[in-house]
Amino acid sequence: MVLVLKEIEEVLETLWEEAGKARSRAYVPYSGFAVGAALYTASGQIFTGCNVENGSYGLTQCAERVALGVLTSQGGDQAVALAVQGPPGRSCSPCGACRQVLLEHNPKLRVWFWWEGRRVERSIPELLPEAFLLED
Ligand code: THU
Repeated sequence: MVLVLKEIEEVLETLWEEAGKARSRAYVPYSGFAVGAALYTASGQIFTGCNVENGSYGLTQCAERVALGVLTSQGGDQAVALAVQGPPGRSCSPCGACRQVLLEHNPKLRVWFWWEGRRVERSIPELLPEAFLLED
């Protein structure tokens, strides 16, 4: 685990960049708020996603859950880190629904995002205290 944590620090800039690249592919004709997400797995793979909006607004998919869907469908292993990038300079943390979904994937996931003028790192329990889990 210590090795993995050291590795995350080393790949963080790459992960951040990958989130930015994914962000450039977002489909956001309604909000104009493009988001990119990049997941880094225990085996060192990166999977990315962007938000995909829909004219039936509630069908919009967030970047984080798209990235997790890509990871899952491509047979990726457990993600240990996530970088999320919204529009430059705008605070952009994972929404409540994404927090719940990310928790179920890995409660020990570490998440980086832009918040009030700086990049911050948060754990899932910090983002979603006393979270619901069907099995514990
Ligand atoms: N959005 C994400 O994709 N991820 C987040 O972390 C926050 C919000 C999207 C949903 C919608 O397409 C747009 O940002 C504005 O809410």
